Amino acid sequence: MNNRQLFLQHVAQTSDAPLAIEFTKASGMYMWDNHGKQYIDMIAGISVCNVGHCHPAVVEAIQSQAAQYMHLLVYGEFVQAPQVQYATYLSSILPPSLNCVYFTNSGSEATEGAMKLAKRYTGRHEIIAFKNSYHGSTQGSLSIMGDEYWRNAYRPLLPGIHHLDYNSFEAIDAINHNTAAVFAESVQAEAGVYKASKEWMQALRKKCTETGTLLVLDEIQCGFGRNGFLWSFEQYGIVPDVVLLGKALGAGMPLGAFVADKEIMWSLTNNPVLGHITTFGGHPVACAAGLAGAKALVEGDYIATIPAKEQLFLDLLKHPKIKAVRSVGMMFAVEFESFEVNKKIIDDCIANGLITDWFLFAPACLRLVPPLIITEDEVRTACKIILDAIDRVTF
Ligand SMILES: Cc1ncc(COP(=O)(O)O)c(C=O)c1O
Repeated sequence: MNNRQLFLQHVAQTSDAPLAIEFTKASGMYMWDNHGKQYIDMIAGISVCNVGHCHPAVVEAIQSQAAQYMHLLVYGEFVQAPQVQYATYLSSILPPSLNCVYFTNSGSEATEGAMKLAKRYTGRHEIIAFKNSYHGSTQGSLSIMGDEYWRNAYRPLLPGIHHLDYNSFEAIDAINHNTAAVFAESVQAEAGVYKASKEWMQALRKKCTETGTLLVLDEIQCGFGRNGFLWSFEQYGIVPDVVLLGKALGAGMPLGAFVADKEIMWSLTNNPVLGHITTFGGHPVACAAGLAGAKALVEGDYIATIPAKEQLFLDLLKHPKIKAVRSVGMMFAVEFESFEVNKKIIDDCIANGLITDWFLFAPACLRLVPPLIITEDEVRTACKIILDAIDRVTF
């Protein structure tokens, strides 16, 4: 049997129609399959490879750390330089109140940790989250996911969770002294790229402060430059109490984090001691990779190039069959009339060497979240493949 057949036989399947393409190499904006065919990657492993695949500085950091040491002991006991250096670097590029990092293995675990942190810090258990939000797939993060279709099969879930409308002032009225935390994506990704208004985010911040509620912003997908700011919350002129990081945090290695002020984070330290622990969270190799990736992103000045590239996409993605294009930086949802039409366009794009997909809560929207290193020529190439696919599929 070949690898594709073995994949279908022995690797747990998450859908009955996986793409099942076998890739053998990836570099920068491109991936190559086992027949040598080249694909331009327009989804960056779902907002992970912001500095592209196998960035040389990231590969070097992984190789050198792997040769020094890998796993030593469960999180939080030994001083491990890659963790310490990455936490220090993150603190230096985040606002001063986000100065203490708890590393996890994934975004979902960052959400879980922050839910526990909010309970401990406030002594409350109610959480407000938003419709069409995605914070992960574990049971706690699933409990705050804002879509009943995806939640329903796993009930009972956590009690005390209220789902309200994103960007609605009525939702803000619902926050009170029983609310431990409000969880929100700075920009809703899986909803099909929706951002909040500045007024709403500022009112949300104010109400959380007034009620002693922690404002937890999920930047797992929209952080690390994706929205045209290093941190997406910068566009609203506010700072959350806790920020959730993942995906691009590890520059291709598995890594998540929740970051807060040390005074807040301290509440996970005692009563019970070891109240939140992880064996592999903050793995030294993942932290070394993440640090190299974050420095490459910040020092490479890619974020400054985003507005012009965003505008180029918007100028080029014009077609009578496109119903809408929503974008925030290098995060685009291209909306078609139905999932069926979108899926045919996606399949045609992939057949013609462009990797894309759809959004969990917006199946009629095609996802474009390329590595931030994409050049203007590559934007033109990608848009041509997409427009040709639309022509082929819809006529
Ligand atoms: C906004 C957001 N939060 C949380 C997660 C969960 O991250 P992970 O898949 O690493 O558990 C994701 C993953 O897609 C996400 O997009």
